[in-house]
Amino acid sequence: MTPSREDSAISMDFDHQPVMLQEILETFELLEDGLFVDATIGGGGHAEALLSGAPQRELVGVDRDESAVQVASARLKRFGDRVQVHHARFDEISTILDDDRPLTGAIFDLGVSSHQLDTPERGFSHRFASPLDMRMDLSASLNASTVVNSYDEDELAYILRHNSDERFARRIARSIVAARPIESTTELAELVRNAVPAATRRTGRHPAMRTFQAIRIAVNDELGLIEPALKQIIERLRPGGRIVVLSYHSGEDRIVKQVFREAADGVCVCPSTLPCICGSESSVKLLRRKVVRPTPEEIEANPRSASARFRAAERLSVGEA
Ligand SMILES: C[S@@+](CC[C@H](N)C(=O)[O-])C[C@H]1O[C@@H](n2cnc3c(N)ncnc32)[C@H](O)[C@@H]1O
Repeated sequence: MTPSREDSAISMDFDHQPVMLQEILETFELLEDGLFVDATIGGGGHAEALLSGAPQRELVGVDRDESAVQVASARLKRFGDRVQVHHARFDEISTILDDDRPLTGAIFDLGVSSHQLDTPERGFSHRFASPLDMRMDLSASLNASTVVNSYDEDELAYILRHNSDERFARRIARSIVAARPIESTTELAELVRNAVPAATRRTGRHPAMRTFQAIRIAVNDELGLIEPALKQIIERLRPGGRIVVLSYHSGEDRIVKQVFREAADGVCVCPSTLPCICGSESSVKLLRRKVVRPTPEEIEANPRSASARFRAAERLSVGEA
């Protein structure tokens, strides 16, 4: 990556509308002070609303994308030392936080920002011609070109099926391998269009959308980082502290649901034939039993919110379960 390309990705014009903001603010309504974590600070929209909502709240935000860190830092500057923004992955937050200070709240707004999708040279979208990149962190070594041009057919088919539920995973994987080298987003998008059955090309959405999503998830190991990060943060919440997660596809939501459920049920490690003696306890209660979706009004105003799934949990005190 040349410096000029990296610089051009750091634009202060960060157009991303925070999703399900009302639901998030309501979840934290009674938590008017203490330390919050924004694990995916992006353009700082959720963070700004949280900090504006109560003057005693402080916030540590991270993002693995340096451009987001710069934009969020500038946007939140007026909050002075109530806010810190770091360039880090969310599974590394524990290395940044002070061990002695429990958290009052945490937000994970998973996935990709509108800014990333709409910056052509980042290579996230089939809509713009660009080299195959898709790295959220421009200092990371794995990019989309390596995945597309060096993974074998089985690996590609697995990624497409597992990360995006792509029905035509095998056909697309075979076409990718046959067409190498593939240099650009437009070449990849065209190749996928030609690989899927004609009827699928007429369904409205671009047939390459799932392929792009699946490759992006693989490049950034998005699914692998969620569980360790959520567990670390739940562990650091004070009793009554709350965590909110927004996910944008079923693969992400499955992981969030499972981590929350295990924390709510307590994970007993005793053999199922014996009474429990391991002392496992619930560490959270679920704030909503079912996933919450954006309102029709929000989806109309911000169509990119349509796939959002909101889950929230509250930390219990020891012995409260
Ligand atoms: C949907 S956007 C967040 C938008 C933000 N809530 C706002 O209001 O502007 C997701 C952000 O999370 C970041 N991200 C994704 N996975 C991450 C990870 N594992 N660690 C840190 N940041 C991550 C992306 O770089 C992106 O900027």
